[in-house]
Amino acid sequence: MKKILVAGGAGYIGSACAEYLLDHDYEVVVFDALFTGHRDAVDPRARFIKGDLAERDELIALCKKEKFDAVMHFAAFSLVGESMQNPSKYFRNNLASAMNLADAAVESGVQSFVFSSTAATFGIPDEMPISERASQIPINPYGESKLCFEKVLHWYSEIHGLKYAALRYFNAAGATALHGEDHRPESHLIPLVLQTVRGKREKFMLFGDDYDTPDGSCIRDYIHILDLAQAHEKALYAKESGHYNLGTGNGLSVFEIVRAAEAVTGKRVNLEVAPRRPGDPPRLIACSDRARKELGWQPRFENAESIIESAWKWQQLFPDGYAE
Ligand SMILES: NC(=O)c1ccc[n+]([C@@H]2O[C@H](COP(=O)([O-])OP(=O)(O)OC[C@H]3O[C@@H](n4cnc5c(N)ncnc54)[C@H](O)[C@@H]3O)[C@@H](O)[C@H]2O)c1
Repeated sequence: MKKILVAGGAGYIGSACAEYLLDHDYEVVVFDALFTGHRDAVDPRARFIKGDLAERDELIALCKKEKFDAVMHFAAFSLVGESMQNPSKYFRNNLASAMNLADAAVESGVQSFVFSSTAATFGIPDEMPISERASQIPINPYGESKLCFEKVLHWYSEIHGLKYAALRYFNAAGATALHGEDHRPESHLIPLVLQTVRGKREKFMLFGDDYDTPDGSCIRDYIHILDLAQAHEKALYAKESGHYNLGTGNGLSVFEIVRAAEAVTGKRVNLEVAPRRPGDPPRLIACSDRARKELGWQPRFENAESIIESAWKWQQLFPDGYAE
């Protein structure tokens, strides 16, 4: 298992995963259209191909020529709000273009396909913590597009024998020394809080402090991108296809993250409480027992401070994010 195609490797999680694979002696080819990713986020040790998964024939030709051992598929659009305005954009990219990649994997004899799925496939969960047995009823086109592609992979595995792992990340967070979070626009909690600390944002808006949780704010499960990278590598060697929920299992509220950010940075976060946003469940916590047992996965960043510290270091090193 040596040569890996990392689709979306110029993005936040894909770039960190490419770095992890290169550190562990894999050959990495990054394929990215730079829709939301950054050329400077591509690890210089990787070969970079600028391309769009929508270009089906080129993609199949590339995979046949390069004979990748495995494909890691991070390339997608992932703004929930945007998906509610423009579902077509989400189903075209996250489902139709992703199918081109799955077809290319089948046609070129790829041994392992690892897919970035999401907790958003569960919608409003019917159990907590959320195991792989929970019902999957997404409440937005983003989550639905990811669930549809999980189903495509299931049938490709049954019919074509494509071995896959669908890794359902909860809230990806943190940074490596070189790769961090630079979404434009940024919608994720930790970078927003840290940008507020640095004065890049005037205030941090907290949506809803009247949920049925101990401090009233939403609880989420933050998982470090290096722990996600470790899970991707382990998934390459799984004997069978499978679905895995990835989180630490420690739910952290928005207020707890803000307090941890203040402890790490030594500075106050200017915070304003706004009304709840529609569609935000009060609590999303992963049960990752299956990944721990079957993949031998063990997250290393288990508390808020260690995750925030890594993101804080990265923001100080790259105050304006990646160069354009
Ligand atoms: N960030 C999170 O907390 C989180 C949580 C759960 C799941 N995910 C999933 O993880 C994956 C990576 O997320 P991220 O935060 O790194 O996103 P990102 O936007 O930073 O990275 C996605 C990358 O894919 C590229 N891309 C998108 N469509 C493409 C296409 N058709 N062809 C080629 N390249 C294309 C983009 O240019 C970008 O570089 C996504 O699939 C996302 O749905 C993310």
